[in-house]
Formats: sequence, C-alpha cells, structure tokens
Amino acid sequence: MWKTIAIPESLSREADTLKSTHHSRRGGLAHHSEGRNKSGIAVNQSFMQAAPQNAPTIRSLLSGVERALAGGPHPDRARRDAEELLLLALQRDVPGATRAWLIAHDKKAAAPNVAANLALLVKRRLAGEPIQYIAGETEFYRMPFFVNRDVLIPRPETEHLVEKVVTLAPVFRRPRIVDVGAGSGAIAIAVAHECPDAVVTATEISQAALELALRNAERLGYKDRIRFLQGDLLAPVAGHVFDLVVSNPPYIAERDRDSLSVEVRDFEPAQALFAGNDGLAVYHRLIPAAFTALVPGGYVALEIGYGQSEAVRDLLSISGFQNVEFTSDLQNIPRVVCARRP
Ligand SMILES: C[S@@+](CC[C@H](N)C(=O)[O-])C[C@H]1O[C@@H](n2cnc3c(N)ncnc32)[C@H](O)[C@@H]1O
Repeated sequence: MWKTIAIPESLSREADTLKSTHHSRRGGLAHHSEGRNKSGIAVNQSFMQAAPQNAPTIRSLLSGVERALAGGPHPDRARRDAEELLLLALQRDVPGATRAWLIAHDKKAAAPNVAANLALLVKRRLAGEPIQYIAGETEFYRMPFFVNRDVLIPRPETEHLVEKVVTLAPVFRRPRIVDVGAGSGAIAIAVAHECPDAVVTATEISQAALELALRNAERLGYKDRIRFLQGDLLAPVAGHVFDLVVSNPPYIAERDRDSLSVEVRDFEPAQALFAGNDGLAVYHRLIPAAFTALVPGGYVALEIGYGQSEAVRDLLSISGFQNVEFTSDLQNIPRVVCARRP
C-alpha cells in the first residue's frame, strides 16, 4: 500500500463546487463560444479570457497534481500521469490540446471547472485506477480503442501476437480466423485491419466485454468484417473449421494475485486475468479445442505468461500439435507460441 496523500486544497475545493453545481455549470458552458488559437486548437473563449486573477495556472495545476501523484501507487509516472490527467480535464475547453500545448500555455489561468474536473480525476488515479479507464480509451496497433472496467486494457506485448497471425495468414486463401476471448476486440480488429481477405470471428464469455468490442468494431469500421459471438472458448463456433485460432487467454495464477499492481488487481476484470492456481487452466481446455477446430495445416497462436513456455509446449504436443515456435517480447521473454496441426 502507498501512503494516503491529500489532493491540493485548491483542487479539492473546486471538485466540491463542481459536484454541487454540476448542472448549472454544464448549462453555462454550453453557451460559451469556441475560438481557435495560433496552433489551430479549438479553445473555449471563457477559458482564455474569463479566468479570475488568482485562478491556478496550467503550470501550478501541473506541479500540484504531480506532487499529489508522487505519493500515489506510481510515483515514477507522476509527471506523465499529471500531464495526461490535466489534458483530460482540459478536453472540453481546449479540445485537441497536447503536451506541447501545456508547455506553451503554462502561465495561462485555468477556468474553475478545469481545476474541479482535475481534482476528481486525480482522486480516481490516486485510488489506483488506470489512466486508460479514466480516459475511456487506449491505443493498440496504432488504433484507438474504447476501454472500460469490463475489458482488459490491451497491452503492447499483445501486438506480437497480432504480428504472428499477420505473418501466418497469407499461407491461406481467405483465411478463416477465430480470436478466443476478444475483450475490447483489439486482436480481432487489428487482424481484420491487417488481413483484408480474412474472415474473422471473435468469441467472448462476457456479454459486457462483447458489447464494447462491437462498439470498437463499429467505430473503426470493422463491424461487418467480424462476427462477435458470446460463449465459452470455441463453443459458439462448434462444428465450424478455421485456418487460424488466436487467443490471449487469462493466464495469471490465482496464487500471484497479491503480487499484482493495484491497477490490475483492483480494476481489471478477474475473468480476463486469472486461470486457476497455476495460470494454465484455460490452456488445458483451449489447446485441445483449438486442435479440433483447425483444418489440417492450420495454426494456433497464443499469448503466454512469464515462465509458461515449457508447460504450454507440453500441452500443445499432447494435443497433437507440431512445429511449436516461440516469439519473445521486447524484454526477451517468450510471449507468443504458435504451433501447427499436422
Ligand atoms: C487476457 S483477456 C484478453 C482480451 C483481449 N483479447 C486482449 O488481448 O486485449 C482474456 C479475455 O478472455 C475472456 N474469457 C475468459 N474466459 C473465457 C472463456 N472461457 N471463453 C471465452 N472468453 C473468455 C475474458 O473475459 C477476457 O475478455
């Protein structure tokens, strides 16, 4: 646990005011006109002109938040998180603002609603909530994805899995690919994006996750390219055959729960993380099911956790897979395994 730290008083005061006058402030903002500054970024006129003289500046807000976050779960990321939270708080008044904008306008006074919004965001971050959930969005494979607490935040390591599928897919004409445990839809959508000829299906046990995956597919223009089905592993596609089965399944051992960061343990869905006492429970069921679902010559590609390569290799061999190959991530940890059904 980290020590409790007070949110700077000026921010707390603003947050209380915002909570009690939420509706009137929203109504008020709706009437403010928008303008463009030299950088071309749209700026709410009230933000630029009407801030009271003693209102906090961008610089003071940033350093106040950085100080507060330095006492939170990730002091190493305090500055970066402070910038991201301030940009989120500014979103309505300065749409499109970037870190460069913060630097260029650091002496500018912030409107009261900005400080108030910021205080609420800082409170959430201090409680351990990941920035991506606070923002409601993250990036995967250079595409924006909505995320919320119903889905795992897609990780950069998982891009290795997509890359593997992208290299295997051209072996097949109109490859039939199924992604098991779609979550936000990150893998299925990235694969559909990279493999225009592929026929992509995604399964997911959580209805709430599936709904978000559908929203992501719709937003990114892949709704008609991917079939999203709810159910256990490959059960929703029983009787169908595929050229490629891909999955980033839950693979954390229950016994490691306490060693996880607060962000993961307390905010990401348990159903997306844990797989029995040793973390291998889902592979035990998924690998034989994948063998059955694949055409001869088809491939399974799976993300794996630290130290799981030998156990997963055994499971693949027992099921009849051949040509087992591992791909390491940037930390040189085997992260993706792929194998061929003979
Ligand atoms: C580690 S997350 C991966 C999410 C996403 N594919 C990604 O890489 O960001 C695992 C996903 O599998 C889903 N899941 C867990 N057990 C499942 C099962 N038995 N059948 C289908 N999906 C399952 C979880 O709900 C979660 O969305």
